[in-house]
Amino acid sequence: MKKILKFPEGFLWGAAGSAYQTEGGNTNADWWAWEHSQKREMALKAKGLDPKGFYSGEACDFYNRFDEDFSLAQHLNHNASRFGIEWSRIETKEGVFDEAVLDYYEKILQSAKYHGLTVFLTLHHYTNPIWFAKLGGFSKKQNVDYFLRYAKKMVARFSQYVDFWVTINEPELYTMQSCIVGTFPPQKKNLILALKTVNNLIKAHNDISQYIGQNYPAPVSMAYNQVDLEPSGFLGEFVVRIVRYFVNSYILLRTINYCDYIGLNYYFHHHLGILGFRKHSAHKHELTDRGWGIHPEGIEAVLMSLKNFGKPIYILENGIADAKDARREKYIKDHLYYIHKSIAQGADVRGYLYWSLTDNFEWEEGFWPRFGLIEIDRNDLLRRKVRYSALKYAEICKNNYLEY
Ligand code: BGC
Repeated sequence: MKKILKFPEGFLWGAAGSAYQTEGGNTNADWWAWEHSQKREMALKAKGLDPKGFYSGEACDFYNRFDEDFSLAQHLNHNASRFGIEWSRIETKEGVFDEAVLDYYEKILQSAKYHGLTVFLTLHHYTNPIWFAKLGGFSKKQNVDYFLRYAKKMVARFSQYVDFWVTINEPELYTMQSCIVGTFPPQKKNLILALKTVNNLIKAHNDISQYIGQNYPAPVSMAYNQVDLEPSGFLGEFVVRIVRYFVNSYILLRTINYCDYIGLNYYFHHHLGILGFRKHSAHKHELTDRGWGIHPEGIEAVLMSLKNFGKPIYILENGIADAKDARREKYIKDHLYYIHKSIAQGADVRGYLYWSLTDNFEWEEGFWPRFGLIEIDRNDLLRRKVRYSALKYAEICKNNYLEY
């Protein structure tokens, strides 16, 4: 028989997205430049892929259709939303802030409020203005001041609408992809650069968090990507300990004192041993369309370790690429089951934001991975189509309980 699993009163329910992945037309971003670079286009063609499918272009046209999307979220019983502002659209040239764009973002924030949504606003989600990237981006210590100048202006301008600040999205993944694996611009494979970048991102977060704390009421966090790691085979424990330190703890431990809450993104579960990375298939995990192993138990393990910091936790991302919408409902419910279980064991989880509200631009993969509660029909003027799983999630949001 199914049980009713109640969530704490005032629990926040909603979905997340980022500026670059949804807005469209962010021509001043380093990502845009990279998408249109000859090097990238040639690399895609060499793989037999058509570069056309990999330009962010108009994305979801959220920049113009934000009110429609927030209205849909409201109809789906969401009471919270996470979205971002795009630095490269705001500060197109060093020191030049576009007032018209800021006015526009104000409209977006007002619309979110009008639709009854608690706002989590992200200041930096993977992308940089081209001019900032050309100066060396976050790999140079002196460049942190550019970010701080932008962030301070944004906080002063928008704080009346923002309930939670998210300073930097997934500094671990950003650094990994841009400085070690090289799949994100500036496409480096350089450990020293990675270390410098990480430490500058830490400084950027700590400084802006301190500034917000001294001047404004809304709580602040990063969006931390935390991975559930399981030992596998010979020396598994040892390998997991080391990898866990670098992947989960290094940044967290250096920024946690500058967080009022912990923002958690959870997607990944890996099996590690001295022989390296074990494939999910070997462990019989079901896979998402992106080939990521589904392991909802992992969110409990992650939450139980975060519990020790004694801070409120908001899940800022958790989601599945599932074009057929065959597994999304179960994915959400299974994760919520383990979140509920963690709350029962003392983890102070206060909100869940599914990734993502709409299908969007999935970075180096283009548009094919479909994470959205709402489908974007790219063959029909970006028409929004609410998926079945979105309706099932809407029931949970409305009831504030999960039947499981
Ligand atoms: C990122 C998102 C991304 C999602 C799915 C997260 O780590 O913050 O930008 O779309 O993963 O890949």
